[in-house]
Amino acid sequence: MNQPILTATGVTKEYRNGALPVRVLNGIEFSVDAGAVATIVGASGAGKSTLLHILGTLDRPTSGAVCYCDENVYAASDARRAELRNRTLGFVFQFYHLMPELTAIENILLPSLIARAADGAARLWARELLDAIGLADRGTHFPNQLSGGEQQRIAIARALMNRPRIVFADEPTGNLDSANSAGIIRLLLDLQQRYGYTLVIVTHDMDIAAFGTCRWRLADGILNASTTAAN
Ligand SMILES: Nc1ncnc2c1ncn2[C@@H]1O[C@H](COP(=O)(O)OP(=O)(O)O)[C@@H](O)[C@H]1O
Ligand SMILES: [Mg+2]
Repeated sequence: MNQPILTATGVTKEYRNGALPVRVLNGIEFSVDAGAVATIVGASGAGKSTLLHILGTLDRPTSGAVCYCDENVYAASDARRAELRNRTLGFVFQFYHLMPELTAIENILLPSLIARAADGAARLWARELLDAIGLADRGTHFPNQLSGGEQQRIAIARALMNRPRIVFADEPTGNLDSANSAGIIRLLLDLQQRYGYTLVIVTHDMDIAAFGTCRWRLADGILNASTTAAN
């Protein structure tokens, strides 16, 4: 169990705004064991989304390496990275990003449609996920007929559709009130226990960061392990 599933070494990221490069990440060292819950806390603008995108194969680092189970993902082909993203990684974002013209159950099924694997078993699994997120009676609703918290539950089920080994969540409660926020975090943690994925959450919220089994703090482009719940 104590095997790192994901590591980052010497990761830097510079954005070029006009002539001046802006260095957002300045030598990130990160590792998460399979089955762990990693939380990364940092102020707005600290580079949390940038880091999460790089860990999740959504954006390239300027330098450094990200390895999934010893495979250097930025040395791999675009096709291999796309496969990893679709088959092995799941994503939950602050603003849900559901397809407005698809129903709840169709949104959950979308990753299997992209993987060309939306067979009867996939449909049953999508139903099971709809049940697991507590929305069994909302499958035919469209996103604009669902509350923010319900839309985020659908987004979580969609992230789990292809049975990812790692789920990345970027400020998953950033758009929700406190009662809904608590419910979403509880759901991510309950489903993590049930399905055994590795969870990586980035947040500015200390209370959410405290749920991590390993906790990190991002500041000044550097990631530091945070040893106490209060940190
Ligand atoms: N595509 C981009 N081009 C230029 N600068 C960017 C880009 N994305 C993010 N930044 C800058 O990088 C810094 C970190 O952004 P971000 O990773 O979104 O932080 P956080 O998620 O912690 O709020 C910010 O100063 C932001 O303006
Ligand atoms: Mg962000």
